[in-house]
Amino acid sequence: MANLTGKKMLLGVTGSIAAYKSASLVRLLIKAGAEVQVLMTKSGADFISPLTLSTLSKRPVYTDITSEESWNSHVEMGLWADAMVVAPLTAASLAKMACGMSDNIITATYLSARCPVFFAPAMDLDMWQHPATRENVRRLQGFGNHLIPVGHGELASGLVGEGRMAEPEEIVAYLHHFWERQQSLAGKKILITAGPTYEPIDPVRFIGNRSSGKMGVALADAAARRGAEVTLVLGPSRLLPRESQVKVIPVQSAGEMHRAAQEVFKDADIGILAAAVADYRPREVSAQKIKKTGDTLRLELVKNPDIAATLGGGKAPGQWLVGFALETDNELANAQSKREKKNFDLIVLNSLQDEGAGFHYDTNKITILGKDNKIRKFELKSKLAVAEDILDEIEALWNGKI
Ligand code: PMT
Repeated sequence: MANLTGKKMLLGVTGSIAAYKSASLVRLLIKAGAEVQVLMTKSGADFISPLTLSTLSKRPVYTDITSEESWNSHVEMGLWADAMVVAPLTAASLAKMACGMSDNIITATYLSARCPVFFAPAMDLDMWQHPATRENVRRLQGFGNHLIPVGHGELASGLVGEGRMAEPEEIVAYLHHFWERQQSLAGKKILITAGPTYEPIDPVRFIGNRSSGKMGVALADAAARRGAEVTLVLGPSRLLPRESQVKVIPVQSAGEMHRAAQEVFKDADIGILAAAVADYRPREVSAQKIKKTGDTLRLELVKNPDIAATLGGGKAPGQWLVGFALETDNELANAQSKREKKNFDLIVLNSLQDEGAGFHYDTNKITILGKDNKIRKFELKSKLAVAEDILDEIEALWNGKI
């Protein structure tokens, strides 16, 4: 296990009954070698005394954004930290973080933080299931923050269900795992295709599709953060990866994407094909803008190269190929048959039947199918979180764990 020695951690404690667990959390983090600076909302301090947490962390605890000592320090702390953990995070503070409200020391520091941010929600089961909370969680994940999943069990209300804050041991294990996977793809070369393709009809028109590139760009960023050398072959998209070390090859048409992907895959360990590639293109591309003449216009289309099938057919031993399937019906059978035909090691199915999945959304809902015929279903998540799940599956396959 990676350890937390020397890691500078901000721990935000908001007003939930689960705040009593933050004493153990501070103790465990310090034991793992971290330096811990505790921040509390005023209602957090109603549940556990700042004196307890300052004694355990051996630092003053900040509870008030307007006090002299903490007025500017939310900015300094945001720059100082290697990670920020908000645990417990109430529904109210979650909503504030999701919409950028900075009216207390935790939310203000969160907005200034340049480090990875982790959040461990704690609330009653109906609050956790409410569409507003679901949306706020997805928004926070969509900004690149990390959700530490809630537990299931008896809640403070006496009801039983999901909403318990993760146990301090689980939070520390999650952090260990996060740093462990920082370099988990170091030395691996990864090709990712993303976005739509545009097939020209004339100088002003094209055949395209609704892909935004979000899924593939999220994969490129997540793989780069794990230390991989990533080349992103990106169809026409307004997006660019956040991680500057991702090499981007911009392309327009399926033909261009095919040539670029073939070249990059020669030297790659893994190919992940998230692009929505046009299957057909106009046989003729008019050099001039086509004039409006008759009531109908006929375009003859010819088949485009299938990038996935080309790469799958020529895959060398030790190379891995992961494809996507975008389906509208008979999803599992269609995806499995695509996996076999294109020689994918894994296929990621997203269905347009699922609200919030597929094109353009910031979220996706996927099912991963492998050669073992096992079906791994994931819930609706931000595309960034989906990208992490896909990379975890690829790594598990790579390491012979599935
Ligand atoms: O870009 P976003 O807005 O975030 O949307 C993401 C997405 C919905 C585009 C993405 O998640 C996705 O599903 N991508 C694949 C879409 C698709 O074209 O699926 P398909 O079932 O038609 O193709 C199967 C596989 O073959 C895909 O990996 C595709 O990249 C690949 N393919 C298809 C045709 C072709 N000529 N060449 C290919 O490589």
